[in-house]
Amino acid sequence: MTEQQRFEERIRQETAIEPQDWMPEAYRKTLIRQIGQHAHSEIVGMLPEGNWLTRAPSLRRKAILLAKVQDEAGHGLYLYSAAETLGCAREDLYQKMLDGKMKYSSIFNYPTLNWADIGVIGWLVDGAAIVNQVALCRTSYGPYARAMVKICKEESFHQRQGFEACAVLANGSPEQRQMLQDAINRFWWPALMMFGPNDDNSPNSAQSLAWKIKRFGNDELRQRFVDNTVPQVELLGMTVPDKDLRLDEESGHYLFGEIDWQEFNEVVAGRGVCNEERLAAKRKAWEEGAWVREAALAYAEKQQPRNAA
Ligand code: ACO
Repeated sequence: MTEQQRFEERIRQETAIEPQDWMPEAYRKTLIRQIGQHAHSEIVGMLPEGNWLTRAPSLRRKAILLAKVQDEAGHGLYLYSAAETLGCAREDLYQKMLDGKMKYSSIFNYPTLNWADIGVIGWLVDGAAIVNQVALCRTSYGPYARAMVKICKEESFHQRQGFEACAVLANGSPEQRQMLQDAINRFWWPALMMFGPNDDNSPNSAQSLAWKIKRFGNDELRQRFVDNTVPQVELLGMTVPDKDLRLDEESGHYLFGEIDWQEFNEVVAGRGVCNEERLAAKRKAWEEGAWVREAALAYAEKQQPRNAA
């Protein structure tokens, strides 16, 4: 049996591919691209929520938000570690993101304008992320799949705290209800865009599905998210900003309107509302953190002879 055949057999039998196993070069590159982008999304995703840490309406909300933002940093670190098992350096991946040569999720290029946005991000954005990531717990590359298991548990907490914050607003004053509806109106469509282009326009899907890196197409996961979420919107007494949305009794699925793909393409191309601001914030943090990295390295070097002794 050739190495290629052995690899294909493992994929067929759903035996995880591990770092020491032979793998096609294109499989390795696809994983580095996807895991790297995923890691960048976690790290850039800290910014819109970090914006509200100093303005959370109570100590309880601040503690929850702080924990959530720290979790996102942890997710980024697991994912960079998973990418490194494929033979790339995290510094290179990170530099590519800072230079705008690697993508991160479109959703984090939208601003957080009011407190309800923070609840809605937890509920809708982390909710969409879970739908995508639960599927990735069965992805074919072992380190990525294992990282996803822990990440999903934490995302589940994020989603619930977001829904709970929204439920409080939904039961609050008319102004609070209005603020919540406004946040839903702004985040609904960008949340649907998180799943990527329609399957017909997704250049990577067919091969990633064949390699079982992706377990479902973009459209199927998006539909799953809409089906899960519309009843939750209704439970809160809010509405979905989509005049075409309706339940199809026959299939049991919600049919929804056309996504604004031009907006999606613009944001992915770096021309969204906050793209420049996000990258500038990450570049500044990287530059201003140089002394911390140098100090940590110097300390590690100093410890080496002591550890070897
Ligand atoms: N934002 C930015 N870029 C996107 C998005 C998006 N929402 N959706 C798709 N793209 C990019 C793809 O990265 C790809 O670009 P590339 O070839 O230059 O890398 C291009 O658009 C075409 O899309 P697809 O062929 O469908 O790409 P892919 O097969 O990688 O599927 C998907 C995209 C579904 C996002 C996949 O990469 C994935 O599941 N990633 C892991 C999950 C993830 O990254 N989540 C991040 C947000 S969740 C969070 O951080 C809380």
